[in-house]
Amino acid sequence: MSKTRVAIICGGRSSEHEISCISAGGILAGIDRTKYEPILIGITQQGDWVLLPNDYALSISNGALPHVDPSAPAVVADIAGLSSQGKNLDIDIIFPVLHGPYGEDGTIQGFCEMADIAYVGSGVLASSVAMDKSFAKPIFAAAGIKVAEGFVVTKEEWAKDKSACAKRIATLGYPLFVKPARGGSSRGTHKVHNADELEKAITDTHSFDRKAIIENAVVGKEIECAVLEFDGAVQASVVGEIKISDSFEFYDFEAKYLDGATSIELPAPIPAQASKEIQEKAIKAFVALGCAGLARVDFFYTANGEIIINELNTMPGFTPTSVFPKMWAATGKNYTEIISALLTSALTRTNGVLGN
Ligand SMILES: Nc1ncnc2c1ncn2[C@@H]1O[C@H](COP(=O)(O)OP(=O)(O)O)[C@@H](O)[C@H]1O
Ligand SMILES: [Mg+2]
Repeated sequence: MSKTRVAIICGGRSSEHEISCISAGGILAGIDRTKYEPILIGITQQGDWVLLPNDYALSISNGALPHVDPSAPAVVADIAGLSSQGKNLDIDIIFPVLHGPYGEDGTIQGFCEMADIAYVGSGVLASSVAMDKSFAKPIFAAAGIKVAEGFVVTKEEWAKDKSACAKRIATLGYPLFVKPARGGSSRGTHKVHNADELEKAITDTHSFDRKAIIENAVVGKEIECAVLEFDGAVQASVVGEIKISDSFEFYDFEAKYLDGATSIELPAPIPAQASKEIQEKAIKAFVALGCAGLARVDFFYTANGEIIINELNTMPGFTPTSVFPKMWAATGKNYTEIISALLTSALTRTNGVLGN
C-alpha cells in the first residue's frame, strides 16, 4: 500500500516563523514513517512557498534559530494542488504547522478548502475566531465560561479621543492588561499599573494590531489544558501549571522563549475537582468555537477557586518540548501517537455544508 503523503508546512509571515520551523522539525522526526511520507514545504518570511529537503536544518544550532531559505525551489499552490518544478506533489494531507496571522487564522485553511486537500486542525471559522480574542471571548462567555472583563480600543478610537478612552478604561480599575486582539507569543502585551503607564502601552500594542484589548488583570495560576480528537472523540489532557521564574511579572515573550525561564508542572498542583472542571471547560471551549483536531486552552485559576479562560490556540507550539506534547505525554500519549491521531482525524473530517 502506498503511504499517505503529508505536506508539513512551516515558517510563514508571522513573528512566530522560527518557532514554526522548530515544530516542523519535531514532526518530521516524530511522524510514523511506516504509514506517512512527509514532504517539507516552507513559507518564507516574505510569503513565498518553497520545497525543502527532508534533512533541512530545523533546529537551533549554535544559538541561531532556523528559518525558511528563500532560494529553495518554488512551490506553486493553487486549486489543482501543490506542485514544484512542474511536478504535482500529490499531497493527501496538509499539516499547517504555522502560528499566528497568515497560518493559524483561517487563511491557509481557506486555501486547503478551495484546493480540496485534507488538513490538520481547525477549519476556517474556528481558526479565525480563535485568532481574534475580541471575537472568541464573547463566545466563551455565551458558553458559560468566565472571561476577564474588558473591551477593545482601536487605534482610530484612541487617536480620536484619548481622554474619553482613558476614562472608560479607568472604570476597569488598575492594574490592567493591554494586548493585541490578534497577537501571539505575548508580543505587544503590557501589564499597566496606573494611568501614567497607559498611553505608552496602548501605543505599543497598536503597533502590533490596530485592535487593542483592555482587560482586568487576573491574579491567579496560569493553567493549560490540551485538547485532541482521537477517532472523532474530543479528549482533554492532564492539566498543567505554567511556572514562571520570579524575575518576570507575567508570561511575557522572554519568559516564554528564554532558556530555563519557564517550566510546566504536571499535573497542576490544584484540587482534583478544579482540574476536572478545567478539562470540561477546555472541551466546552473547543466545541463552542467549532474547533477540530487540536487546541491548547489556557486558563487562570484564582485563589478563591475561580476558573477564567484566557485564550484558545488552534495551532499551539508543537516542538517535542512544547507544552502541548508534554501534556499528552503526561496523559499517556507519545509524540508519534498524537501526530497520527491528528492525521487520521484530518482524513476523516468533513465540513458537512454541502450535504457531505
Ligand atoms: N487579563 C489578564 N490577567 C492577567 N494576566 C494576563 C491577562 N491577559 C494576559 N495576561 C498575561 O499575558 C500573557 C499573554 O497573554 P495572552 O492573552 O495569552 O496572549 P498571547 O496570545 O500572546 O499568548 C498571559 O499568558 C498572561 O501571563
Ligand atoms: Mg497566551
